[in-house]
Amino acid sequence: MSTAENLFANDTQPPIETARLVLRRPELADAPRLADLLNNFNVAGNLARVRLPFTEADTAAWLPLKVATNDPHEMAWLITTEADGVIGTVGFHRDGGETVLGYWLGEPYWGHGYMTEAVRAALHRFFGTTSAQSIRSGVFHFNMASLAVQYKFGFVESGRSEVFCLARGVNVEHIDTELTREDFESLDFQG
Ligand SMILES: CC(C)(COP(=O)(O)OP(=O)(O)OC[C@H]1O[C@@H](n2cnc3c(N)ncnc32)[C@H](O)[C@@H]1OP(=O)(O)O)[C@@H](O)C(=O)NCCC(=O)NCCS
Repeated sequence: MSTAENLFANDTQPPIETARLVLRRPELADAPRLADLLNNFNVAGNLARVRLPFTEADTAAWLPLKVATNDPHEMAWLITTEADGVIGTVGFHRDGGETVLGYWLGEPYWGHGYMTEAVRAALHRFFGTTSAQSIRSGVFHFNMASLAVQYKFGFVESGRSEVFCLARGVNVEHIDTELTREDFESLDFQG
């Protein structure tokens, strides 16, 4: 991490406002709502690390870490609307020296362009506050909606792998993707 990133990490991460959403830091009190939205095969079956049934107690493995961190490479943003409060998350975690983007929305909120709006804003903040030159992501091979979101921002397929899906209890073919800072910035998205 660069000095600039260290300085930033000691600051708070202010919420991110978009046209329809506010992305804010999680709190421990968000656990019941997150568990309620994640306890759904149609959501969890597209994610690697969400076992079913998923209860409030299962958030204890990661929510406190996400509440505590100010590291942009480990940040979780809760996606909120004025009408419904928390509707999903978009966030980052480190893996083998690289940073990985992940996201999900509760099923009632699919198909409204919310994730495009949230990912754009989160990437804008990420590249704006780190010196990272690239970021990784990916989708299970059947998740064309998620792949469509990633393609909008310049992610490209970088390979294929097998990823264990806790909710399905099997390995699933995974389309690995990567986005460079240069490609993101060339699209000149506003956060
Ligand atoms: C995948 C997910 C994040 C998409 O969120 P969303 O808010 O519905 O996405 P958006 O509406 O912003 O964009 C979806 C895009 O995919 C497109 N799309 C939807 N279904 C598609 C399909 N079967 N094939 C190709 N494109 C598809 C949409 O048309 C849209 O593109 P457009 O804006 O050009 O029309 C959401 O469905 C979700 O959370 N699913 C469960 C968890 C998950 O899959 N997380 C991602 C793991 S990699």
